[in-house]
Amino acid sequence: MTAAQPIAHSSPLSLPPMLPSHGPWGHIPELRQDNLGLFTRAWRECGPMARVSFGFLTPIFVFDARAVKHILVDKQQHYSKQTRGYDALRMLLGQGLVTSEGALWKRQRRIAQPAFHKDRIAKMVDTMRIASCDLVERWAPWADGQTEIDAAEEMMRITLRMAGETLCGVDMSDESSEFGRGVAVMLKFFRKKISTPLPLHWKLPTAQQRRSDQALEAMDRIVHEIIDERFRSGVHGDDLLGMFMSARDAETGESMDRTQLRDELMTMLSAGHETTANAMAWTLYLLSKHPAVLRQLEQEVDALLDRPGDAPTLDQLKSLTYADQVLSESMRLFPPVWAVARRAEIDDEILGYSIPKDSYTVMCSWVVHRDPDLWENPEGFDPDRFSPERLAAAKRRGRIRTAYFPFAAGPRKCIGDAFARTEALVLLAAIVRAYRVELCPHQKIVPEGSVTLRPRDGVRVTLRRR
Ligand code: HEM
Repeated sequence: MTAAQPIAHSSPLSLPPMLPSHGPWGHIPELRQDNLGLFTRAWRECGPMARVSFGFLTPIFVFDARAVKHILVDKQQHYSKQTRGYDALRMLLGQGLVTSEGALWKRQRRIAQPAFHKDRIAKMVDTMRIASCDLVERWAPWADGQTEIDAAEEMMRITLRMAGETLCGVDMSDESSEFGRGVAVMLKFFRKKISTPLPLHWKLPTAQQRRSDQALEAMDRIVHEIIDERFRSGVHGDDLLGMFMSARDAETGESMDRTQLRDELMTMLSAGHETTANAMAWTLYLLSKHPAVLRQLEQEVDALLDRPGDAPTLDQLKSLTYADQVLSESMRLFPPVWAVARRAEIDDEILGYSIPKDSYTVMCSWVVHRDPDLWENPEGFDPDRFSPERLAAAKRRGRIRTAYFPFAAGPRKCIGDAFARTEALVLLAAIVRAYRVELCPHQKIVPEGSVTLRPRDGVRVTLRRR
């Protein structure tokens, strides 16, 4: 893959170039069929920024790390989340931490932040360890090198358990859990809805609409039950839910109402499991394709954990440096949140292009993480590029921070980044110590870009004991 040469513009304030399209629907058919392909083509043909036509909208795709920094960090106050994608997400998450803005977001972030402090996360490691050991045990009957399991589905299940237990003290992962399935249904629905030129709140009598209504209802019921149960117990507790329940507004002294509690819990449970599950699924996939990397990782893990069935303790996590690099590299090639959108609230200028007020900008980590100007051998899976020495060398050469932004950047950066890394490390080490995970033959692994980057048809694997 090679980047297009920078576009020469005659006027310093021309709009970013328009990606050519054919037909009345512009790029919508391509977006629906293969959105990752559309982003990649726009980058190849137009360079660092490109306009595309969705008929009713002309978003600007952003593929340049400096432009990403401009929008997410330097001028973040002029870029909002009032976008079509976020409007769709609000139908599920309401006004929780991911979707809210302004004073409400500021207050909620301040309340939630301590729950993600490293001391708090340290206390969650035991819960993560127990869940990881249970997973190893659950897989034991299938470890015959023949039985096929879907690693992506298994990762969804276990990360939902970890998020539920650590954030609100509830294991939601059992087979009958409607929550995980609900998230999957909703994300599929959003993908379609966002690319349809109809108002988002319109409901058509389709089977998909019905399925999504039912999914939302079930998820709502689950979240409300958790909140009701906590109120009934009379003890708020010191997990994230407890912190939200105990918080009082500094000015009015009022506590959060039920709707706000529902929105925050729905947000944390959805954002907190789906993303990490995808990161893990892609990591297991990549490891199964790169035996030399897997061997090195096994050596590190075997030196640390005495026997299969073990998972790392808090102290041991520090020694998993190669495992951490593997995760970083996996999120470079398959960033679980592969595109981040913002709306320009002012007329702006980026890289010499005019960005008119109300433009939708879409920053694409899927492409930036593959830019050959930023990454040597960008398509290669090379965890060593995240070694301290090579990171320092890249910094010396002037590579900017937003060359890599799986958790975004600036004030709206992911609040759960350390949480996610910790749970992924614990889980990865436990799995690698106990099993060889091998990809089943004759399957095509297709990345599908919805809100998150999922393997469209899962990742079918077999397991061998080590
Ligand atoms: C590998 C795992 C994860 C990835 C790749 C990821 C990625 C991201 C990204 C890119 C954003 C910024 C979105 C935007 O600005 O438009 C974000 C925000 C957020 N994430 Fe994560 N996330 C992960 C795990 C988690 C976990 C485990 C939690 C909670 C337990 C979480 C909670 C949140 C919240 C609440 C926000 C909104 C923060 C704010 O705006 O103040 N995430 N995440």
